[in-house]
Amino acid sequence: MADKNSKSANAKAMSFAHSDQGTIKLTLVSKDEFAGWLESLSGGDAGWIKSTGFKGGYGQAIAMPGDDGEIGWAVAGMGDERARSRNRFLGAKVRSVLPAGVYSLASDLGTEQLTDFSLGWLLEGYRFDRYAKKSRPKAELVRPNGVDSARLEAVAAGEALARDLINTPASDMGPDELEAAAHALAEEHAATIEVVSGDDLLSQTFPLVHAVGRASTRKPRLIDIRWGSDGPMLTLVGKGVCFDTGGLNLKPTASMALMKKDMGGSANVLGLAHMIMASGMQCQLRVLIPAVENSVAGDAFRPGDILTSRKGLTVEINNTDAEGRLVLADALTFADADEPDLIISMATLTGAARVAVGADLAPYYATTQADADAVETAASHVADPVWRMPFWEPYEKMIEPGIADLDNAPKGGFAGSITAALFLRRFVTETPRYMHFDIYGWCPSNEPGRPKGGVGQGIRALFEALPGMLSK
Ligand code: BES
Ligand code: ZN
Ligand code: ZN
Repeated sequence: MADKNSKSANAKAMSFAHSDQGTIKLTLVSKDEFAGWLESLSGGDAGWIKSTGFKGGYGQAIAMPGDDGEIGWAVAGMGDERARSRNRFLGAKVRSVLPAGVYSLASDLGTEQLTDFSLGWLLEGYRFDRYAKKSRPKAELVRPNGVDSARLEAVAAGEALARDLINTPASDMGPDELEAAAHALAEEHAATIEVVSGDDLLSQTFPLVHAVGRASTRKPRLIDIRWGSDGPMLTLVGKGVCFDTGGLNLKPTASMALMKKDMGGSANVLGLAHMIMASGMQCQLRVLIPAVENSVAGDAFRPGDILTSRKGLTVEINNTDAEGRLVLADALTFADADEPDLIISMATLTGAARVAVGADLAPYYATTQADADAVETAASHVADPVWRMPFWEPYEKMIEPGIADLDNAPKGGFAGSITAALFLRRFVTETPRYMHFDIYGWCPSNEPGRPKGGVGQGIRALFEALPGMLSK
């Protein structure tokens, strides 16, 4: 059954418990500490723990009996260094194995570990249950002392928003519904929103957005959100291809299967925008989303067409499946005219990015070393891994076909993610600081805190890094 309440169910499961009365104390023990810790316990408790096989292994957890037949206290394992480096979100794993109850952390962790544990715990509460009921973990956690709970809940809510938007199939997440989601977000945070759609895209000079989206029965559009009246200017641009058939260069079955997620860039920037606005970050935020469906019809754009972009650069279409860079080109031109302090684009732009780094890492490009350093440092602190790729100048030749200024799909496919990034950078000429994330936006299997399906990539790292980046 379709469930309209799944948003509030996620919000509840991704928040901390309020009461601290009658909570179950939860102790965390690493593998190295385990033997010493066991000795400190009473003989009865130690004997029981031994009999369960608990040894402090990563994500192992047991509930200890109390005097009254209830759970008395609980212990969870933090594993060893190796296990921690191979896994993310210990808190998520622990939550998934603990029995129902309201827990409070009894161990002193450093701020970073505590924050990580708490965020993992919240993320484990996420389910996509719009179309079928899903069971959620029954364990709750009282806000641990020393974590910024409001901030973590904002991060979790932004992540949930990104996941929900990606998971919703194109039948319920076309350009119209993506626009509605942008409206809802703008309203929640008293932001302004303007949308140019259909043929107005031509009169207002967004020819590439129109060309890619015109074959769909669902009108293409450009969504423009603005929030915040002072501070540094940050513009986020997200690819909003609600479904990518490939167009006339139709994708084969297997490649088309997951293409509801081709609006993952827009889902991610909306999730990040939520984090920024909910936390009241000091900045003037703008979010631009070209929302289209890349469809097949008599009026579809064609291989060989030469299109003139908003910027005036002409583009030879050598593959209608390289549509993301086209819609982003016009949106980036629009973003660039404002000359913000920083432009960041996010897009499920190329299959080559996935081949290069897999689903776990978010490959990104940066025009300045300082921005790359800031994001990388933040990424390692918040378990949101990113990997820098180069805007490799010598490959500029590959996107120049001769017959037009630019080629949207260089032959051979060498360095496909890099040539796509170079293509985008051609449209950012007035804003020195530009970053681009070529994300996958999908978790291929169930992981702690990250169920199979749509997932945020790079946005938690950016949220962490942005205040410092924008103050430069
Ligand atoms: N949306 C795809 C890229 C994609 C594919 C992302 C699979 C994640 C997983 C994009 O529009 C596309 O089809 N790109 C082509 C470009 C090529 C024709 C130059 C690609 O990557 O194959
Ligand atoms: Zn495509
Ligand atoms: Zn695409």
